[in-house]
Amino acid sequence: MAEVSARHTDLADRGVLITGGGSGIGAALVEGFAAQGARVAFIDIADDASRGLAARVSEKACHPVHYLKADLSDVAAAKAAVDRAAEILGSLSVLVNNAGWDDRHDLEAVTEEYWDQSQAINLKQMFFVSQAAVPHLRKTGGGAIVNFSSIAYLLNMGEMPAYTTAKAGIVGLTKSLAGKLGPENIRVNAILPGMIVTERQKTLWLKEEDIAAMIARQCLKRVLVAEDLVGPCLFLASNASAAMTAQTVVIDGGAL
Ligand SMILES: NC(=O)c1ccc[n+]([C@@H]2O[C@H](COP(=O)([O-])OP(=O)(O)OC[C@H]3O[C@@H](n4cnc5c(N)ncnc54)[C@H](O)[C@@H]3O)[C@@H](O)[C@H]2O)c1
Repeated sequence: MAEVSARHTDLADRGVLITGGGSGIGAALVEGFAAQGARVAFIDIADDASRGLAARVSEKACHPVHYLKADLSDVAAAKAAVDRAAEILGSLSVLVNNAGWDDRHDLEAVTEEYWDQSQAINLKQMFFVSQAAVPHLRKTGGGAIVNFSSIAYLLNMGEMPAYTTAKAGIVGLTKSLAGKLGPENIRVNAILPGMIVTERQKTLWLKEEDIAAMIARQCLKRVLVAEDLVGPCLFLASNASAAMTAQTVVIDGGAL
């Protein structure tokens, strides 16, 4: 289980849905919410990792953790998975929109199809998953949505324009949903992680010199890991942040 010292008693037995929970930051969130006694379901497309995680966390958790397979870029499949999650969990109080696809791409190489695919995974599904979750959050009398953006769009990073555009859009989406849903006691906030060194990041993108350069830039002189996002996400999901909505929280070790 992720080591978080805070205990959010209001999260115990709450229905929590996490997208992209099968690996990376999402997997740490699944563990973190389960450790608080929440009833957790996650949507992912990576079968082996997701099944393994659900089985592993379920062994130690108060409630079984449920993996739902769906390609979130397929809006109908995404919405059906949200409804199914709410049904399995009994109710839904928290939605964590974590899934993303941080593929690097040259400006010249981006086709219309690639652009649409990137927006579909990084931005469009976040709206439709939220749209599908809102009726379930309403039924429980309110709740919290936490959207994962990124500091990448604030760093003028040139190697991923489709991704960073989507990540900037998530901040707009967060504030728009917060304005719409606040009167119904549904809070919507965004987390902007910095460089979070997951296994996937190390395998695909990050060289040792990239990590060293980011640590030099950060105030905190250490590697940030998936577990560093758990405490902030629990805080935004719980009553500890009851008066907080439409905000962006940067978790980057002081890189910005
Ligand atoms: N790792 C970082 O440094 C970093 C930095 C800033 C922001 N973020 C954001 O944090 C979130 C999590 O990042 P991560 O590094 O853990 O990502 P990751 O790529 O390791 O994990 C994303 C998860 O989403 C799932 N997924 C991807 N496409 C999907 C689809 N179409 N349908 C269903 N599931 C799908 C993947 O299988 C995976 O389990 C993302 O939104 C990412 O943009 C990460």
